[in-house]
Amino acid sequence: MALLDILEFPDPRLRTKASLINNVDGKLATFADDMLETMYTAPGVGLAASQVNFHKRLIVIDVTEEKKSPLILINPEIITREGDMETEEGCLSIPGFWETVRRSENIQLKAINRQGEEFTLEAEGFLAVCIQHEMDHLEGKLFVDYISKTKRQMIRKKLLKQQKVRD
Ligand code: NI
Repeated sequence: MALLDILEFPDPRLRTKASLINNVDGKLATFADDMLETMYTAPGVGLAASQVNFHKRLIVIDVTEEKKSPLILINPEIITREGDMETEEGCLSIPGFWETVRRSENIQLKAINRQGEEFTLEAEGFLAVCIQHEMDHLEGKLFVDYISKTKRQMIRKKLLKQQKVRD
């Protein structure tokens, strides 16, 4: 297993639209495992392939406290949505910032698992929010896109400054 580098806002690569995965093979499964290890180490509750500069439709999630229920979603697609809720969201690509975002409260989706089999999943509350957040990454979208331009630019400026210090 390997830890992957996480891209940080405003890196333009985070704006790439991810493409469909046609073939679930051992290599992809290993990559998903590396993403999970990266997510758990960060630590975070979700990670999209886009965040580790792999622009395919793959996300990993684990919202449990025990961190033993990894969810791997390949080519996820939301079929139905119901209700809405507001949550304070953070993102491993936007470290140190949290903002309130409104999303659907209940979703039903289909996806492909690590074995290449299609399955459906119903999610509600925080898990549903998390899935929607990660799926946004696959479209090149970030949670800061839901807040005001002024706030987004402030976050951008602060992160650029941090990144400069680190480099
Ligand atoms: Ni994120």
